Formats: sequence, structure tokens, C-alpha cells
Amino acid sequence: MTQTSSAESLINDLAIPTDLAKSLVGGGLLIKTYGCQMNEYDSEKMANLLENTHGLRLVDSAEEADVVLMNTCSVREKAQEKVFDELGKWKKWKAEKPHRVIGVGGCVASQEGKVIRKRAPYVDVIFGPQTLHRLPAMINDALGTRSVHGKAKAVIDISFPEIEKFDHLAKPESSGVSAFVSVMEGCSKYCTFCVVPYTRGEEVSRPFDDVLAEVRALAAQGVREVNLLGQNVNAYRGKMADGDVADLALLMQAVRNIEGIDRIRFTTSHPNEMSNNIINAYAELPELVSHLHLPIQSGSDRILALMKRNHLALEYKSIIRKVRAHRPNLSLSGDFIIGFPGETQADFEATMKLVEELKYDRSFSFIYSPRPGTPAASLPDDVPMDVKKQRLYALQELLNQQTLAHSEALIGTVQRVLVERLSRKSDREMAGRTECNRVVNFVGDIDMIGTFVDVKIHEALTNSLRGEVVATPEAGLATPQFYGL
Ligand code: SAM
Ligand code: F3S
Repeated sequence: MTQTSSAESLINDLAIPTDLAKSLVGGGLLIKTYGCQMNEYDSEKMANLLENTHGLRLVDSAEEADVVLMNTCSVREKAQEKVFDELGKWKKWKAEKPHRVIGVGGCVASQEGKVIRKRAPYVDVIFGPQTLHRLPAMINDALGTRSVHGKAKAVIDISFPEIEKFDHLAKPESSGVSAFVSVMEGCSKYCTFCVVPYTRGEEVSRPFDDVLAEVRALAAQGVREVNLLGQNVNAYRGKMADGDVADLALLMQAVRNIEGIDRIRFTTSHPNEMSNNIINAYAELPELVSHLHLPIQSGSDRILALMKRNHLALEYKSIIRKVRAHRPNLSLSGDFIIGFPGETQADFEATMKLVEELKYDRSFSFIYSPRPGTPAASLPDDVPMDVKKQRLYALQELLNQQTLAHSEALIGTVQRVLVERLSRKSDREMAGRTECNRVVNFVGDIDMIGTFVDVKIHEALTNSLRGEVVATPEAGLATPQFYGL
């Protein structure tokens, strides 16, 4: 968007007082994103939207910014408190210029609503994960009241207007070879420890054709890999044009047929939604990576019942066994909660045993954090915090050993790598990702960006691998102009 003329036409189109609008249009937008990949996806959408409506461009520093948005996470107390600590730093910033705007979105906004404004009266807009498409109008309203009354009223909208948001977002844009595509929103599982169903609403799937249109648009921009996103992505049930309903397996079938898309990931999944169709997709779809992120939370059936996960540890193991029958080299990752109320040593040992048995490759583990309004928050809990910390430490030691073992097992193997960018270490080196999502650095050429190359792994470091290219099956296919080179 070119600055002056488009800024003027935007000002004419906008229902905001011109003096404040002039300073905002064409200005800088700083977005601070916390939490999950759904939030990362939403932040990208907010940036696209505000570029289209207000000509805002993304910046990295407070000095360059005119609008600051915090896209927040409330899954654990620490994540939530971080937001309030961060907000404190922006009061002075806002006072420096009359048109500056502060917005809080995401799950903390959804859960706390007006309370945010009580704790931080200088916040202008508060929006939820399902109302981010209304952000441009909310910013206009906030600036409008400020111009008339000298002081802005907070504009708050944290409702759940079904899936309207996707109809109002800007056209998909991607600057890389891999892109997130949100296919469903919310969660209807109501695990007793989790706030997500309350902050993001019930499960709602995007229509099948809408998702495919988004993937096609991304493929036309050079995207080779899509990561289908949802809090419970394997619960996807998208309406099709003929009235039928597609599940995630059918969606992946259609995505793989889109020209240019050669790698498919999906995250995050619930064990109870791992249907045979999805398990069989590992046999039928070569584009589906040999990686599965399947949270279990605990290896103890007693704790799983208290968490209302509605499955047994054995059922989870059986899913993994079936997927591994199709993909013996499957890289498995999970989420674990340590110290759920009343977790005994025996419960904890059941988790350790399950991890030892299944062999994970990178996982997330957390100490249980009571969340207001969730059923587990009122359960009695007599496990001291230092015991919980020791258990978490022991679990993480085991998980780290398994990750290292997985990396070391890759040494000497040839991995198919999607080349993403120049390596951060040297301009002679390129960086890409394996199917199991490991970063690999190798000597290569810039023309490889956007293609798959075969790399023999020589070394496993803590956060990455090193190797050498042994084959370039797609030589000549690269389109580096898509990636801003
Ligand atoms: N859909 C996924 C599933 O099937 O479990 C989970 C999505 S949830 C937002 C991401 C992870 O956050 C969970 O798997 C859980 O491990 C963690 N989590 C959620 N609530 C938590 C809490 N109250 N305390 C600690 N960890 C929590
Ligand atoms: Fe949370 Fe359980 Fe849903 S962990 S996101 S309520 S599957």
C-alpha cells in the first residue's frame, strides 16, 4: 500500500475524526503474541486486516508503533499474569502521543473482559478470539470517543458470533513456504482443568470449500506446507457444498490434491477424535508428515477420569500403536500436566511408565495451574508444590533424553527437508525442516528455497541438526521471488 494517496482515501472512508485518523493511518502496528499457534494465526490475520483498513504496517519497536495489540493466553496463571505485567509498561507510551491505541485480545480478554480496563484504565479496545475481525471498527470507535470527550471509552466486544470472523478477514497472505490454516475454532470437550471452551467457545468448523480456497490462495503464493489448525483439529466437521460433512481425513485428501502443496501437518488433536479415517490417512497420504502431536496429560486412568478426558491410557496407547503400524518412524509429541489435584506418587509413576513405553520426541509439560471457573479449581489438592516441581523435573529429564535419542537416531539417515530460508549462522548455509519438524542447517544455494531437498544428517545439536545435501529432486522448481529475495 503506498502511503499518501491510500492514507487519504482510507481517511475518507473511515468514520473516525480526521485529526486522530491522520496520525494513525499508515502508522505502525506492534503485536505481542502469547500462547498457542491459534494465537499466532490470529495475530497474522489482525495484521493483514489492519493493513487493509488503516494502512498499518507491522513494526518491531514501541517507538515506531501507533497501535499496540496484545494477543493473550490464559491457559495457565503465569501466562495471564504476564499480560498484566506487560500492560503496565505501556501506560507512559500511550501518554506520549494523543492518537496511540492499546488493544487486548485473545483468551485473557475473553475471560476477564471489563476487569482488564479496571486494572489498566488506559486500554482502549478489548476483543476476543472470535471478534478480532471487528477490530478496525472498534479502534475507530475508541478514537471517535476520545476525540469528542478528550478521553477514550473502552470498546469491548468479547462475544462468540459463530464463525463470522472468517468471512471478514483479509485475503490469506504468506511470506514463507509453510503456513497455518485455521480449520476450526473452539473446543467442546470441557476437560476439568481447561479454560479454552470458555474463552474460545464451542467447536465450530469452517466450511470445507472455504478452507480449500484459503489453501489454494496460499499455494499460489509459493506455500508448500500447510499446518491445519484447531484446538481439537481432528474434531473437524466441515460442511460441503453438497450438504455432506467432511472430516479431517477427507479435508486432508482434498488438500493434498492442491497443486504445490506437498506437506500436511495438523495440530492439536484429542485422542477421542483419532478416528480410523485419520489413522488410515497415515497409510494413504504420503503428504501427511510422520509426526503426531497427541496430548494425553497423564498416564493414570484415575487422573484421566478426574480430568474428564473420557479415555483410558490403554486406548491412547492403542491409537499410537495403530499409527506406528503405518509409520514406524513416527515422531510423537504430547502435552502432560503434572500435579493435578490429588495426584499420588503412583499416578505420577504411571505417567513416567507411559512415557518410557511410548518414547516421545519433544513434548510440552506443565505444572497444573488452577483456572478460575473450571471444575478442577475447586478440587482438594494436598500435594505440596515442591513435590510437584520434583515430579515435573523428573518427567522433563526423561522427555529431554528421549528427544536427544531421537535426534541422535537421525544421524546417518537421509531426511527430506523443505528449505525455508538462509541459515541464521552463515550466508552460505540454508535452513529447512524435516518431517518431524527439526531445523536442519546445511551448505546450499538460495535457489533451493521453497523446494524439497534430501539431506544426510551428520550432527545432532540441542535445537537443530546439521547435514549435507545428497539429492535435489526438485532442482529448478524454486521460486525465491515469493519469499522476498
Ligand atoms: N486439544 C488439546 C487436548 O486434546 O488436550 C489441548 C489444547 S490446550 C489449550 C494445550 C495444553 O495446555 C493442554 O494439552 C494442557 O497440557 C495445557 N493446559 C491446559 N490447561 C492447563 C492448566 N489448567 N494447567 C496446566 N496446563 C494446562
Ligand atoms: Fe482444553 Fe481439553 Fe479442549 S485441554 S482445549 S478442554 S480438549
